[in-house]
Amino acid sequence: MYRLFLRPLFFIFSPERIHYLSMDSLAFLCRIAPFRLFIRFLFSVDENPQLAKDCMGLKFSNPVGLAAGFDKDARYLDALSCLGFSHVEVGTVTPRPQVGNPKPRLFRLPADQGLINRMGFNNQGLDAMVERLKYRPKNLIVGGNIGKNKDTPNDQAVHDYVTCFNALYPFVDYFVINVSSPNTPGLRELQEKEPLKRIIKAVLDQKKSKNLTCPVLLKIAPDLTEGQLDDILDIAKTEGLSGIISTNTTISRAGLKTPRAEIEAIGNGGLSGKPLQAHSNEVLEYLAGRRHEGLILVGVGGIFTGPDALNKLDAGADLVQVYTGFIYEGPSMLVNICRCLLERKA
Ligand SMILES: Cc1cc2nc3c(=O)[nH]c(=O)nc-3n(C[C@H](O)[C@H](O)[C@H](O)COP(=O)(O)O)c2cc1C
Repeated sequence: MYRLFLRPLFFIFSPERIHYLSMDSLAFLCRIAPFRLFIRFLFSVDENPQLAKDCMGLKFSNPVGLAAGFDKDARYLDALSCLGFSHVEVGTVTPRPQVGNPKPRLFRLPADQGLINRMGFNNQGLDAMVERLKYRPKNLIVGGNIGKNKDTPNDQAVHDYVTCFNALYPFVDYFVINVSSPNTPGLRELQEKEPLKRIIKAVLDQKKSKNLTCPVLLKIAPDLTEGQLDDILDIAKTEGLSGIISTNTTISRAGLKTPRAEIEAIGNGGLSGKPLQAHSNEVLEYLAGRRHEGLILVGVGGIFTGPDALNKLDAGADLVQVYTGFIYEGPSMLVNICRCLLERKA
């Protein structure tokens, strides 16, 4: 139904516009009890102990979550809780609101089943997010993906991450330090050993000083060298990170079917979806082969189907997340993935 009717209709509109239009409509309809029940009936995944996963002290009802960037401002948690995700990662949020990059900044590549985005952390800021999270659904695990404002210089970035952590810890179940978006100038330089160590240490110091148990993870780019990945694993071990989310979008444009002129006309941004899948799996495998015991891996990048999710889990992921696949496949994607995972267990 989604692929036949809704997707062709949605794809007439600009990607960013239809995102908010469709999610506002779903959120509105989910406030009407019979419709909400109907949506749950259609898309919710039955609680099945075989799908459940205990990770980082949290009980995930299934291994599939919605990746960061879809619900940047925690506006749709109630509606998303009807769609069967075990967890939703809100953000990336920055201390102060910011408008992000000029539009258009989100592009579909249907021939590649991909997206290119250069949103630039458009978000309404911490205060707005905190207000919404006060009323968040309790049957959903919510992660807070935190970043720095564009106009915060890198040498003061620590302050932005700590500010986000301190404002959000009463309201989210886990944290993700995001230093891997290609759309905030200079942000990915924070993945280098010394700056990264400073940020992680500062956030974890806050956690310790407040006696908190919430897991803190790091989200990485797929475009890192093996040396950089080794450094990250080393920091994860010495500083006590709970896990790594692998991966964010890529700046590579290798192997695309979309004509080169079209890709060049789109310009800068992070590529996601099917074209990211193989490389993000390689990064995941690399990390899985070298991680210390207890380090959780969350596999993201190019999941569209059950076998795609299984590949990530087989490569070493403890949990998986989706974004672009959800845009192309629609909400039944989650039920299909969970069915496939159950078939494997049978
Ligand atoms: C439009 C868009 C916005 C995104 N915004 C964020 C973000 O704010 N923070 C973040 O950590 N990742 C963000 N991402 C990256 C996704 O969370 C995910 O890591 C990436 O898209 C790869 O997964 P996919 O192939 O399933 O889309 C964004 C992705 C897209 C397509």
